[in-house]
Amino acid sequence: MHQARIILGIETSCDETSAAIYQQERGLLSHALYSQEHHKNYGGVIPELASRSQLEKINGMVEKALNDAHITLDDVDVIAVTNKPGLAGSLLVGVCFAKALAFAKNKKLIGINHLEGHAFSTLLEHSVPFPHLCLSASGGHTALYRMNGLGDFELLGQTLDDAAGEAFDKVAKMMEYPYPGGPVIEKLAQEINFIDVCNYPRSMDKSLNFSFSGLKTAVLYDLVKKGAYDLRAKAFLCPESRTLKQEVASSLLVCIGDIFKHKLSLALEQHPDVKAITFVGGVACNKYLKEHLSTLATKKKLSFFAPSSQFCTDNGAMIALVGSYKAAQGKFSDFDLDIFE
Ligand code: KG4
Ligand code: ZN
Repeated sequence: MHQARIILGIETSCDETSAAIYQQERGLLSHALYSQEHHKNYGGVIPELASRSQLEKINGMVEKALNDAHITLDDVDVIAVTNKPGLAGSLLVGVCFAKALAFAKNKKLIGINHLEGHAFSTLLEHSVPFPHLCLSASGGHTALYRMNGLGDFELLGQTLDDAAGEAFDKVAKMMEYPYPGGPVIEKLAQEINFIDVCNYPRSMDKSLNFSFSGLKTAVLYDLVKKGAYDLRAKAFLCPESRTLKQEVASSLLVCIGDIFKHKLSLALEQHPDVKAITFVGGVACNKYLKEHLSTLATKKKLSFFAPSSQFCTDNGAMIALVGSYKAAQGKFSDFDLDIFE
């Protein structure tokens, strides 16, 4: 077995440029992150802008991660880099950078699935017992996994259409808020103490898959019915009505919380041997959802873990962590490592 000790993790799958140093014995040594702001004005991530910005920032982030860990590139044993899934242009920047560095400096290379990074991100800060259930929710995906051990996990269900974060982003956009919408939806909902005013439909079927596009449409037609949205002009007509925005945001959040709880309860019935529940991905920044799921876990006598916010959204630390156990398992990549959207 290869005795890899220091791992440089690189993450550039979307609109965050991040690098981190992880040492097998000591855990995370540093974490540098640049989050692109310019997408706010466009209501979503613009791929060309994202990849151009990745190119500008990557060198600086890797240098910062090395400096903050008080090491040089010579001390690094392995370079772990996200190679799927994500935006092609953004992924290419990270993978080409990692390959060039690994080739020039004679380092081992490991391509990492970004979703595996999120799924194991709780281990950066907590010692989570296996097996456990993991709910992963971000702007690009929503999935439920059974986690058996390091690198060993099974997909139990996933979204059939929109991701949960996408529902927050799209509803926020309907009300003319910038991307990402999750944080503002949470703020508005908190202002009226998370009341469910609109009672949007939540499917309580027996499947472990998710579907959020119907919910998004229900919100849209509710706004149209209330005379608050012009479908033809795609215009929000009540920007001054804080009450309306609070009620929509709060009802949406409560609805998504109920769906998450329902799916986790179903999965727990099928997997009674699990010891914990984890909640990861950008949507796990949401305090209401965390408390909601933590209450479910307590009721079922299980522990509950979620990463701190900096490790919920995309980050190089989770990539370095996965790189660390893959290196210990001898799972290295060749230099023909490709990207997959
Ligand atoms: O993991 P992430 O940074 O990127 C993806 O892989 O998508 O997640 C970003 C998503 C966005 O949809 C954003 O609206 C959502 O996470 N998000 C939140 C909150 N903060 C970020 N959703 C709900 N509540 C929040 N506080
Ligand atoms: Zn992500």
